[in-house]
Amino acid sequence: MEPLPAQSGRESPFAADVRAGLTARRKTLPPKYFYDELGSQLFEAICALPEYYLTRCETEILSQHAPAIASYLPRPTSIVELGSGSSVKTRYLLEALLARQETLLYQPIDISESMLSQSTRHLLLDYPNLRIQAQAGDYTHGLGAVKRAQDGALLVLFLGSNIGNYDPHEAQRLLTTLQRSLRPGDLLLLGADLKKAPALLEAAYDDALGVTAAFNRNLLVRINRELRADFDLKKFAHRAHYNVEDGRVEMYLVSQEVQEVHLRSLNISVQFQRGETIHTENSWKFDLEQLQMLAAQSGFAAVHSWLDQGKHFSCNLWQVATARHLPV
Ligand code: AVJ
Repeated sequence: MEPLPAQSGRESPFAADVRAGLTARRKTLPPKYFYDELGSQLFEAICALPEYYLTRCETEILSQHAPAIASYLPRPTSIVELGSGSSVKTRYLLEALLARQETLLYQPIDISESMLSQSTRHLLLDYPNLRIQAQAGDYTHGLGAVKRAQDGALLVLFLGSNIGNYDPHEAQRLLTTLQRSLRPGDLLLLGADLKKAPALLEAAYDDALGVTAAFNRNLLVRINRELRADFDLKKFAHRAHYNVEDGRVEMYLVSQEVQEVHLRSLNISVQFQRGETIHTENSWKFDLEQLQMLAAQSGFAAVHSWLDQGKHFSCNLWQVATARHLPV
């Protein structure tokens, strides 16, 4: 079939977001578009890098404390995971819950369909008492289709510092929306990266092997393929910078020369100055006080926080206040 002529009918969300981002005065692209098939695999590779401490630290926390986390949960509890990816770290929690209840309903939601179907297949083979209802899509579109077993509680997993992609207002809004879709007694386990020395943070987002650079540039590969554009990857450098004031790592693609890029599907050309940037991601870092505030502001009661030995990363268990805890 012939591709549709540019601008006939409605634009896809991706096309509309790329158009808006690249025609803005300060160019920007939303990080959720990193995760096409190759991007999801590059992210898995990032998680295995020596510099990317986040995954190792969170895995340490879950491997050490999954039974303690489970001890706070009512029986039966069903699990929902926002941005489940490979679900590898989640296995510690699945096992801790399966040790306390006969069966477990696990509902992973992920933007990458290939990652989701692969992880679902592996989990079903490994855990006979696990039921899985996978949902491919954008988890910010809510928990509409989420179920709970035998009227039990829900534990929502939001791991890997995925919350770090949202600026403080968006994060609060997202968590408030989530809280409102839950019932009293339901819980949230939030994985959040902690503030630390800038050199450690910048190395984690600019690794020596160049995997994060490839992950960042893959956004241009995706735009070239899906929007018939002609980005020359060699003319864009990867940059990661820790903004101490705001407490976030900022990632950019930096144009190495004056150039013009054509996006045929969008019917636009985009000019770049030498040194001009496309801001592709923010990764916000937290301290424990900020996380306490975020819990309170979004209607949760903070239950307990677990850290790794090196105190680099946190897993925070929050609960939707039960009716008897509400002021009368
Ligand atoms: C998946 C959003 C948590 O911000 O650390 C990794 C994505 N970007 N390296 C992060 C990412 C560059 C990651 N999150």
